Amino acid sequence: MQSSLGNAVLAGKVAFIAGGSSGINLGVAEGFAAAGAKLALISRSPEKIEAAARALRDKGYDAVGTAADVRDYAAVEAALAATATRWGPIDIVLSGAAGNFIAPAAALSANGFKTVIDIDLLGTFNVFRASFDHIAKPGASLIAITAGQAVQPMAGQIHACAAKAGVNMVTQCLAMEWGPHGVRVNAISPGPIADTEGMRRLMPGGEAEAAYIATIPLGHYGEKRDIAELAIFLSTESARYISGAIIPCDGASILTGGSQSNFRFT
Ligand code: HXC
Ligand code: NAP
Repeated sequence: MQSSLGNAVLAGKVAFIAGGSSGINLGVAEGFAAAGAKLALISRSPEKIEAAARALRDKGYDAVGTAADVRDYAAVEAALAATATRWGPIDIVLSGAAGNFIAPAAALSANGFKTVIDIDLLGTFNVFRASFDHIAKPGASLIAITAGQAVQPMAGQIHACAAKAGVNMVTQCLAMEWGPHGVRVNAISPGPIADTEGMRRLMPGGEAEAAYIATIPLGHYGEKRDIAELAIFLSTESARYISGAIIPCDGASILTGGSQSNFRFT
């Protein structure tokens, strides 16, 4: 992916991406690499993360993949430490691992709720907290991937709404606490992004999907490169005074009801 910001805007930077084996986060990883960054990727599946890293290396990028579950603080910390040992202080940390499914609250078990909280919210705390001793201070850019669910209640999404609302607060609390260290902490809130697992799980398809697309002010789904462009910008000097921001990249879809809020799963 060629960034509209230029080829080498992240030359020499080291980026750590949690949840980087697929989808939006892998698209961001590729954008970072095309802009010149070295990449360390983690996700749960050893096969998926190694395949993603290998595919990036095959394109000529510096990329290593390590299996680590964001719910396992020690595993996350070890992956971050190994990255800093390999390449030096980490300039960019992206926390994007997530789990989601549609489940009406009355049919959701306590463990189902906890599982999504643990991956999305605890996972984001773990990734950022464990990064603190390994990031460039000053200068690091930390980016959480949140969702419209953080601010828009949605039926069938109580677990994701609660988790992503927490992700927004983790982002903003850390922006306050780590700003004095010269660390910027922001979140990107993607709208509906085409060809992703999230959309496969949440979008019913057919006429309902066409009706939903008609509500998006820009009239279409986003692409992974749209999120990558914003993440690249947030990691450059051009964004040096941006911290604590929750930035939608959603074609204004949140303004007309937010993602799938018109659907009822109860
Ligand atoms: C109700 C469910 C469920 C479902 C799982 N559970 N799927 N409950 N409906 N469809 C419950 C289980 O019954 C169990 O509770 C508990 O959740 C844990 O299930 P496990 O399968 O053991 O969890 P785990 O192996 O940790 O897998 C996590 C997962 C899985 C979230 C359940 O789907 C996963 O790995 N997802 C990763 C990929 C993903 O979701 N990508 C989309 C992200 S997109 P009990 O009580 O039975 O023990 C996103 C959307 C943003 O975040 C917005 C898009 C527009
Ligand atoms: P995806 O392809 O399923 O991406 C999720 C990633 O997280 C995968 O790489 C997965 O790899 C990893 N992961 C899951 N659980 C993990 C765990 N416990 N520890 C470590 N890694 C884990 O889904 P996506 O749709 O692209 O979503 C990516 C991000 O964008 C998520 O944060 C999601 O909430 C957000 N988002 C998506 C949309 C959308 O339109 N799709 C909209 C708004 C927000 P493994 O299976 O190998 O672990």
